Amino acid sequence: MAAGTAPHRQEVTVASVGDVAERIRRVVLRYPTPQQAKAGTHVDVELPTVDGVLTRSYSVVDASPDGRELALSVHLAARSRGGSAAMHALTPGARLWATQPLQNFPLGVGAARYVVLAGGIGVTAVAAMARVLKARQADYRVVYVGRSRHAMAYLDDLAAEHGDRLAVHVDDEGSALDVDALLAQIADDDRAGSTELYMCGPIRLMDAVRRGWENRGLPVTNLRFETFGNSGAWAPQDFVVRIPRLGVETRVDANATMLEALERAGVEMMFDCRKGECGLCQVSVLGLDGQLDHRDVFFDAAERAQDDRLCACVSRAVVTGTPRIDDVDAPTGAPDGTAVVTIEVT
Ligand code: FES
Repeated sequence: MAAGTAPHRQEVTVASVGDVAERIRRVVLRYPTPQQAKAGTHVDVELPTVDGVLTRSYSVVDASPDGRELALSVHLAARSRGGSAAMHALTPGARLWATQPLQNFPLGVGAARYVVLAGGIGVTAVAAMARVLKARQADYRVVYVGRSRHAMAYLDDLAAEHGDRLAVHVDDEGSALDVDALLAQIADDDRAGSTELYMCGPIRLMDAVRRGWENRGLPVTNLRFETFGNSGAWAPQDFVVRIPRLGVETRVDANATMLEALERAGVEMMFDCRKGECGLCQVSVLGLDGQLDHRDVFFDAAERAQDDRLCACVSRAVVTGTPRIDDVDAPTGAPDGTAVVTIEVT
């Protein structure tokens, strides 16, 4: 069995696929040997696409008792030509390469109380945690936030599993999560200092929680989160990145990251998490023709608003005037043109 941080690729077979919510497909991978899929783990999957092989990370939602089958769930990104479209195109029997479960979002032990917060597809990263907490008979609650019930995967399963420990907040039912109220409940409890909150969801939700958590003086080490790189304000577009000092100009495809494009162009980049968390890949922005879609959780909201630095592993640019993903009244499509970001790397 294997679970660790050194990725080990192996050929796996798609055992089954099925839709679990609007635009969300469950894909079960069968491994040649049993895997140890602890709560919080993900696998890196290699996906052949028209633009070459892409590696994408997906949380392990659950595993079969023998550890040979791991279930992932994938949200089909708007206008995806990349990872999520390739995952949605998989059929039973397809073969592909994937790593063993990798852990960088571990569930702690010994806290007096736990809160598990899922936003949208972020439920895939935390559903297993809630299951473990129940098995441990821990004091926990699960908060699940979504746009509409149709788009919330595993909602019925979570309700059956966690009963009144589950709180569901649905935007189009007028029951959107009040982040302040949630944090006030945590902070006003005697066990505030020993409450751990695990979350995965859209950047704006996680930002609001992070800001409120810090403002209330709750221990920062007790707030743990997992990000996913597609949680931007705009659907990905191709854009251009320039580094005048190095004479580099390269195109960043909608299904690639700026970091990947710069690496392909031969630029030596620093990085670690590739998820917008550590800040190691940050670059300075010298010029911008378009709008930045930061997507990171390393900078705070005020820093992001400056638009003078970005995390190359997740941040993107779009043409000015592109409608935001959550602007349902806006016309579809983007204005003509290509955004251009001019940067300096250190
Ligand atoms: S590599 Fe960690 S924020 Fe980009």
